[in-house]
Amino acid sequence: MSIQFTRLALSNWRNFRSVELELQERMFVVGPNAAGKTNLLDALKFLRDVAKPKGGLATALDERVGFTHLRSLHARFNSELKVAVTVNVDGVIWEYELALNGSKTRPFRVEREVVRRGDQVLLDRPDADDSKDARRLEQTHLEQVTQNAKFRALADALASTVFVHVVPQVVKSVQMRDVLRDAPGSDFIEQLAGLPNKKQKGALRRLEKLLKFAVPQFDELRVMRDKRSGTPHLEAKYAHWRPQGSWQSEREFSDGTVRLIGLLWAILEGKAPLVLEEPELSLHEGIVQTLPQLLHSAARRHRRQMFVSTHAMNMLADPGIDPREVIVLEPTDQETVAKLGSEIPEFVSAARSGLPLSELVGARTRPYRVSQLPLPLVAEP
Ligand SMILES: Nc1ncnc2c1ncn2[C@@H]1O[C@H](COP(=O)(O)OP(=O)(O)OP(=O)(O)O)[C@@H](O)[C@H]1O
Ligand SMILES: [Mg+2]
Repeated sequence: MSIQFTRLALSNWRNFRSVELELQERMFVVGPNAAGKTNLLDALKFLRDVAKPKGGLATALDERVGFTHLRSLHARFNSELKVAVTVNVDGVIWEYELALNGSKTRPFRVEREVVRRGDQVLLDRPDADDSKDARRLEQTHLEQVTQNAKFRALADALASTVFVHVVPQVVKSVQMRDVLRDAPGSDFIEQLAGLPNKKQKGALRRLEKLLKFAVPQFDELRVMRDKRSGTPHLEAKYAHWRPQGSWQSEREFSDGTVRLIGLLWAILEGKAPLVLEEPELSLHEGIVQTLPQLLHSAARRHRRQMFVSTHAMNMLADPGIDPREVIVLEPTDQETVAKLGSEIPEFVSAARSGLPLSELVGARTRPYRVSQLPLPLVAEP
């Protein structure tokens, strides 16, 4: 299945009052701390959480501490929260729109739920049944298999988005691998261990090939299970002065190696849209600089969409990055404004001249008061 989000529209979503963005196959989200990068991408995660098996609107809202925390504090007279997307699923254009509202007496309700397939409206709520039984507006039709048969392909596509934020400490600690909610993708060793033998070998070989470029002395990877507990471990062989080299498990890997393997695994395997939060963490800048190319070729291979939030300007040093692929978040005292690089004239002219966007993005996203930071932080004695 090939899935591509081509439009994202938000109203009163967290620190955004109004967002309307056209999306490409590869998107970089940039902005200063607290600009809303995580919040913007959370809109896709929210739809995933509503649509996924055992998901649903109530749980998705609960996980975000409820509707009132999600609705923008900047919301004005029109206080409706809206998430809308256009998705191309195997060449078919789907539109999904979900608007919610709530009050003190009624925590939340579906204000509107619309599904379009091309020009055809397949769902338009509230409908006559909803007006007979208002409790129906506590659920979406997206989450109900009995209601979404006509747009199952859309529901499956929205549910399939993969979010990855590999946390080395979680990967390294067997106990912590269960605490995956805030570290999705950190269970990649279990995922590798669960593959049938031949597939696992293929995956390990693909990872090895890329790791050899990035990690000095790295030689080979294998998955081993603890004889007593059955817990899988990833082991790497490093070429040392010992003729046979030596094997180490993930507990001894450097944090950067763990993140890189998790990241490469997420990029290489699967075809559903992939969201990577700050993939540059713990990685050498030489590797960070190659990530856009890697994402590009992985995206091309499977026509897989990739979203990346980043603070690493050298991630944007590749002159092949189109301004339409960059979402720039600019906080104001009222709300955060989300713009495409193609709406910013300097970005467009830099790209036309074959210049990388990194410096322009850096200048635009640098907190404007950072140079006024009072230093030294502690008064001299
Ligand atoms: N309902 C809401 N209304 C308005 N603002 C909100 C709401 N919910 C969260 N925020 C604000 O959103 C900001 C956090 O945004 P987010 O975590 O997406 O930033 P970020 O760009 O990912 O930052 P970082 O680079 O530090 O990870 C916080 O300042 C928070 O106060
Ligand atoms: Mg963030």
